Amino acid sequence: MCGIVGYVGSRDAAPILVDGLRRLEYRGYDSAGVAVLGDDGLQIVRCEGKLSGLEGCLATKPLKGTTGIGHTRWATHGRPSEQNAHPHNYQGVAVVHNGIIENHLQLKQLLRAGGHSFSSETDTEIFAHLIASELADVTRSKGLEKNTTGNGLLAEAVRRALRKVRGTYALAVLREEDPSELVIAKNASPIVLGRAEGAWLVASDVPALLPYTRDIIFLEEEELATVRADHVELESFDGIPIERAPTRVDWSPVMAEKNGHKHFMHKEIHEQPRAIADTLRGRASVETGDVHLEDVGLDEQSARSISRIVVVACGTSWHAGLVGKTAIEQLARLPVEVDLASEFRYRQPVIDESTLVIPISQSGETADTLAALREARRLGAGSLAIVNVVGSAIAREADHVLYTHAGPEIGVASTKCFTTQLTALILIAIRLGRLRGTLDSGQARAHLENLSKVPGHVEEILGREEDLRSIAVSVSSSPNFLFLGRGSSFPIALEGALKLKEISYIHAEGYAAGEMKHGPIALIEDGLPVVIIATRHGTYEKALGNLEEVRARGGRVIAVATSEDNDIGSLADDVIWVPDGGSLVDPILAVVPLQLLSYHVADYNGTDVDQPRNLAKSVTVE
Ligand code: AGP
Repeated sequence: MCGIVGYVGSRDAAPILVDGLRRLEYRGYDSAGVAVLGDDGLQIVRCEGKLSGLEGCLATKPLKGTTGIGHTRWATHGRPSEQNAHPHNYQGVAVVHNGIIENHLQLKQLLRAGGHSFSSETDTEIFAHLIASELADVTRSKGLEKNTTGNGLLAEAVRRALRKVRGTYALAVLREEDPSELVIAKNASPIVLGRAEGAWLVASDVPALLPYTRDIIFLEEEELATVRADHVELESFDGIPIERAPTRVDWSPVMAEKNGHKHFMHKEIHEQPRAIADTLRGRASVETGDVHLEDVGLDEQSARSISRIVVVACGTSWHAGLVGKTAIEQLARLPVEVDLASEFRYRQPVIDESTLVIPISQSGETADTLAALREARRLGAGSLAIVNVVGSAIAREADHVLYTHAGPEIGVASTKCFTTQLTALILIAIRLGRLRGTLDSGQARAHLENLSKVPGHVEEILGREEDLRSIAVSVSSSPNFLFLGRGSSFPIALEGALKLKEISYIHAEGYAAGEMKHGPIALIEDGLPVVIIATRHGTYEKALGNLEEVRARGGRVIAVATSEDNDIGSLADDVIWVPDGGSLVDPILAVVPLQLLSYHVADYNGTDVDQPRNLAKSVTVE
């Protein structure tokens, strides 16, 4: 939820740190800062506000030095301000941190009792005090001179400090006396290493490293690394050395850039044909009607041993789970529950070895979803995660992972990750249906045929963007919206409402269309925009009935309809046409117009589409 970067090499660190932070701004952006070690010792510059503020400060006070750490913040303790911005330092130890120290109050009291005083409201500053104190103790206990460097002293001091801390952290630490190294540590918040030419880099997330390297080492829980220009030493918190070769990440730097689009979100909406195609690639054989997911633990024996499935997720990923429920129950005849991850572990869930838990998370770092996965595993469930970020915590802790190959999703509002999650869930539904004998090869072939056409259908919908933009502009001043859907379009109505809310700050509700008469119809008044998903599947006739109920009360109906539908044009004020892709993939096609509608309303109204207020791309706190 905050962005961390670090560099140890032969080039000036400050520009590299700022460039890395720029690529991590979606992780949090209420203040930023860097610490650099050079001939002038430890130099720290911090600024409240977005990264451009820090760049302005550095323009007037350039920092020289080849070792450094940087941070872009999303506040959890202490309001956004320069004094609360990271890095925090004490007696020459500087730290940047992503996460929460749960026992920060007790630690602060202990340190104050020992004569320490604090200059910020943050929990993070405690790390600087703890590590500096431990460094002095470790140096003294080894009979070394006060400012002795190397000898693994900083790593040992960090290890000892972490034993006193309860909480979550990705941490990067440097000390003034020793510009040759920095130390990083991980527990529940992501941090990765990148091997570059004559340097090693550190970051919270892969995109920050892509311009310099694609050779990435992912730290696991309770691991620590000493980072130098020519090598890194990985170890456990117990000091046991760990050997881990870099993973080759195939995201090019350009993929993580905007590619000429005005916003990351717009780029990512338009990337969906490729993202869906990449998620399908190598996993489906239309000819044989088979889905190849052996590598994710879905084999005959496991498929038959599953008695039920529980999906745990948050936000948009939870909406994906609701769509997946329909697909899996229809094709594999397996009961599926879809739980909000933030509720799951507090309701004493009934889970056993025959339950398959499916955590869905694009970031793979959402604290609530990670905690739900851990609880499900503790109760004996098997787990298959659907995740977009290679090596993320949820990916590493689940028994198996089905990666959506959406590539980096920078916009806070999830779009291509959502449609690739739906794609992954359909693959799982077909695979389970085939393994459990509830779906024959002919039926599977038909579904896979439809699935293989989705990228082309999405391209066709994107080709109608201008129509959508004009509808969006015409309703952009409405203070309220209603989104209605039935069956597997109900979660799409929820998703359409969430997209609009989170990037345009306009109130919107998603509702099951059949529920209209049980209350929401009281909301209908002249001009209220009501988006109804009325594609030619399932309960189409019922959706028409809802549409007429809305029209009769003065609502402005924006219908998402199937291209060949000749009836709906006379009933709706505006129609957004989508190809008939078949009922299983209908939700993927129906959501794309809603993504574009929310994007253009927000863009027209001038809100911050990629970094909406109060939001962060990955919510790594509960
Ligand atoms: C989606 O547009 C939102 N930004 C949010 O609801 C998000 O889906 C949720 O926080 C879950 O994130 P995850 O998929 O990374 O777990």
